[in-house]
Parts: sequence; structure tokens; C-alpha cells
Amino acid sequence: MAASDVDRDLDLDFVQLGSTGIQTSELQFGTWRFGRETEAGNVEIDEERAYELLDAYADAGGRYIDTADVYGDGDSERWIGNWLDERGHDRERFTIASKIFWQIRDGDPNSRGTNRKTLRNRVDAILDRLDTDYIDVLYIHRWDDRTSAREMTKTLNGLVESGKVHYLGASTLRPNAWKVTKANQIAEREGWEPFSVLQPRYNLVDREIEGDYLEMAREEGLAVCPWSPLGQGFLTGKYSREEGLTGESRAAESSRFEESYLTEENFDVHDVLDDVADEVGATPAQTALAWLTHRDGVTAPIVGARTTDQLEENLAAAAIDLSNEQVERLTEAKAGPYADL
Ligand SMILES: NC(=O)c1ccc[n+]([C@@H]2O[C@H](COP(=O)([O-])OP(=O)(O)OC[C@H]3O[C@@H](n4cnc5c(N)ncnc54)[C@H](OP(=O)(O)O)[C@@H]3O)[C@@H](O)[C@H]2O)c1
Repeated sequence: MAASDVDRDLDLDFVQLGSTGIQTSELQFGTWRFGRETEAGNVEIDEERAYELLDAYADAGGRYIDTADVYGDGDSERWIGNWLDERGHDRERFTIASKIFWQIRDGDPNSRGTNRKTLRNRVDAILDRLDTDYIDVLYIHRWDDRTSAREMTKTLNGLVESGKVHYLGASTLRPNAWKVTKANQIAEREGWEPFSVLQPRYNLVDREIEGDYLEMAREEGLAVCPWSPLGQGFLTGKYSREEGLTGESRAAESSRFEESYLTEENFDVHDVLDDVADEVGATPAQTALAWLTHRDGVTAPIVGARTTDQLEENLAAAAIDLSNEQVERLTEAKAGPYADL
């Protein structure tokens, strides 16, 4: 990995979260890997490491923590709640986002999705684990085709009215971006709370959302907070064409990682990334994150990291300035879905 000249001693800035009234960190911190077991049976991030990472993020001025009720079977939320308490942090100073969708009990179809029962019960369980009175942003983790948009939207509105949830978000939903518009039209007609934040996968090599999804977000004034901004670590310089993984990784212990990321086409993108990284005196990871923060329509990427060194390296991306030409060169390294139309 190329050495970085970028100052790591920074204080993250705040950005407006779409059309909501709140401002939040320009780089969010993701906790998917807290307590997560890989296929090889390794825990990606244990409790002690989770606290170190949260400390490092907060020390850099980070104030937006992303979790979900299924991360680490609830441990991610539990550890965030414990950390806030143990460190004596003022919960009010943090924006905490969580998500609901995936089935949590075998043989119980109602423990999945966004039906009224699931949403109400699971919001209460999230509040318990986080030991807080409210969730800043509640996402639907995926769209639930078994529940009508009306039932979901009305229930979500009730949760906002009750004060348990402040804002609503929708995660992924590619290629179903139109469903968010449909739900928001119902909300507008009924005077209910609309979705105001989106969380799609987006990075230099995963470009599916370019086109209708980003256009929809712009049209609706929605915040866009990309997940897996480093392609699960692919865009960090530790994989090579010849040798595959050259450093250490837990994320790569997934059967789909190699097939999804270690492709000739993606290594070609990485070559361009390496060139630009050298030009700006940054690491590939920092440059890949900076590309996202420079993209029109992107609000704030959700940074993931397994170690505090990785996290500090990634957070320093906030200080990187790319020229328009560099952004364009990186953008053109891989075509989005509409390039050939
Ligand atoms: N809504 C959804 O469906 C959804 C889905 C996925 C993620 N998310 C959210 O997005 C967050 C980020 O996703 P992600 O973890 O996939 O992000 P990512 O940044 O693409 O990948 C993070 C992984 O890459 C490696 N890495 C990161 N920085 C590195 C560095 N500087 N040098 C070397 N390796 C580095 C680490 O894994 P190794 O060291 O093990 O290689 C790390 O765990 C999640 O925590 C979660 O909050 C949401």
C-alpha cells in the first residue's frame, strides 16, 4: 500500500442529511462487522475492538453510527449502547441509524419484513438494546413485497409520531427505486412521514445505482449514504492480480468475495485508482472514499474498518481534494449501467 501524506489528525465536518433538518458527519461509521462470524468461523470484530473503533471514530469528531438489528444478532446495537454509557457520551450528540427487515426467528414468517407487528416489536427491541428513547434514522433494510406500501408507510409514520423514530430511510432497493417514490407519494397524500435517506451499495467498482436510482434520490431530495464504499476492502491496495490477497482480511472469508471483486475489470479500475492516489499523496482507500464524497448526489459514505489503523486511514479521506479531472478519470474507469445506451 502506498504511504499516505494526508493529515490523520482531523475533525470531521457536518453535512446536511438530505432534506431532513439535521446535520451529520461527512463520513458515517458502519458496524455491520461487530460480532459477525465469517464462513471460516472467525469473529470479524469482537467487543473490545468495537469499543476501540467507536473511540477512534468519536475522537475524530465522528457522530453518525450505522447499525441494524441483525448485526451480530443484536450485539452491534448492544455494544453501541454500552459504549455510549461506559464512555459517558451524551447520546444527543450522536445520530444513530438502525434497520429492520431480515427474519429473526426460524419458522416465524412474521418475524421478517416490514409488517406492522414486526416494525412495532422490533423498534422496541432496538431501543432496549441501544438503551435509548429514540432512533434517529430507521431504515427498512430491504423492501418487503408481502406487506403493502400503505401498511408499512402508515406504521412507520406512527413510529415517528410516537417519537421513537425521527427519520425514515430505505436501504438498497436497486433495481426497485420506484418503490420508494410510490411509498413517498402515499405519505405525501396522507400527510405521513416520507423516506428521507437512502442507503445503497456504491463504490468505484459497484456502480449499479448510477442512473435511475441517483436521479430518483435527487428528484425526491433524499440523502444518499453508500455502503461498502471500499468494495469490502478490495479498493484498499491489499489485493493483487497475481497473488490475490496480500495482507490480512476477514471480509475476504466470504465465498462470494473473490467472484464479486477479484475480476480483471475491477483490477483495471484499481490501476487508475493507484495512479490518482499517487498524484494526491493518499492511499487507494482514501482516494476511493474521496471519489465518493466528490460524487454529485452522495451525502456521506458509511466507512467500515476492522482495525483502528484502517479506520484512521479511512477517516483521513475527508481531507483529500480531488480535481474535476481526477474525479472524471476515476468515474470513467468503470462504466455505470447506462453507459452503452
Ligand atoms: N444496508 C445494507 O444492506 C448494508 C450492507 C453492507 C454494509 N452496510 C453498512 O455499510 C458499512 C460499511 O460496509 P463495509 O464494511 O462493507 O465497508 P467497506 O469499507 O467496503 O469494507 C470494510 C472492510 O474493508 C477492509 N478495510 C477497510 N478499510 C481498510 C483499509 N484502510 N485497509 C485495508 N483494509 C481495509 C476491512 O476488512 P478486512 O480487513 O477484513 O479485509 C473492513 O472491514 C457496514 O458496516 C454497514 O453499516 C449496509
